[in-house]
Amino acid sequence: MDSNVEGKRIVIKKADKEDLEGFLDLYAGFYRDLRLRQGLRQHGREKYRGDVERYLSMDKVFLAETDKGEAIGFIRVSEREDCYWIEELYVKPMHRGKGVGRRLVEKAENYIKEHDPDVYIMVLPQDRRAMGFWLHQGYSLLNTVELAKNLDGNKAGTRPIPLLGSILEMYRWAKEDYTPLEKKYLELVEEFQKRGGGGKELLEIFVNALEQHFSKV
Ligand SMILES: CC(C)(COP(=O)(O)OP(=O)(O)OC[C@H]1O[C@@H](n2cnc3c(N)ncnc32)[C@H](O)[C@@H]1OP(=O)(O)O)[C@@H](O)C(=O)NCCC(=O)NCCS
Repeated sequence: MDSNVEGKRIVIKKADKEDLEGFLDLYAGFYRDLRLRQGLRQHGREKYRGDVERYLSMDKVFLAETDKGEAIGFIRVSEREDCYWIEELYVKPMHRGKGVGRRLVEKAENYIKEHDPDVYIMVLPQDRRAMGFWLHQGYSLLNTVELAKNLDGNKAGTRPIPLLGSILEMYRWAKEDYTPLEKKYLELVEEFQKRGGGGKELLEIFVNALEQHFSKV
């Protein structure tokens, strides 16, 4: 199915080797945008060439293209650990909000459906925008927890976030876009931890608060 974005017809197609340069531009754009928000050092476009070449031969990449042949978005699907994963999804900023991302997702899901009923994605919890997008597309949060150890013993770059009696550490980003309520929650948890509070006490507080709430309604 074709659609129009400001008068330009947009086609979603499977990328092949001829699409290398267009895909490389988009892929570098995806990481430029992400690393800027994370506060990480930027890499030049060429840094990604080797990865992009490999992905074009190993994975399924779908491109959104204008009628002039300009690639404006992509989605990459890989198969690993016997599961299908959406690895990245990206639409150029000036083409966002016009249904291109949704069409790329539909294309990837239709492809995956031919092989498997389930699709997985990894999203960083700080990435509120991506999280919002995937929840809107009908995805739900699943139970993967990543473990890491900072060998310098430096925890200054993280924020504590509680889960079932444990306190997880979440990296701080340079550009965070938490809602005021989320920010307040994170600040209060951090203050609680600074005052010596642990995950089990937080769990008790949460359970008590919910019980009180239910007893009132
Ligand atoms: C996320 C992204 C791909 C969305 O692309 P897009 O072309 O702007 O999205 P669409 O216009 O197709 O939006 C489809 C639907 O999602 C909704 N949506 C878009 N962004 C959303 C968000 N952050 N939160 C909630 N809903 C969102 C739209 O309102 C639209 O809803 P509708 O179908 O009910 O009308 C784009 O913003 C992007 O490239 N962001 C940077 C990279 C990124 O975050 N990728 C995702 C993680 S891998």
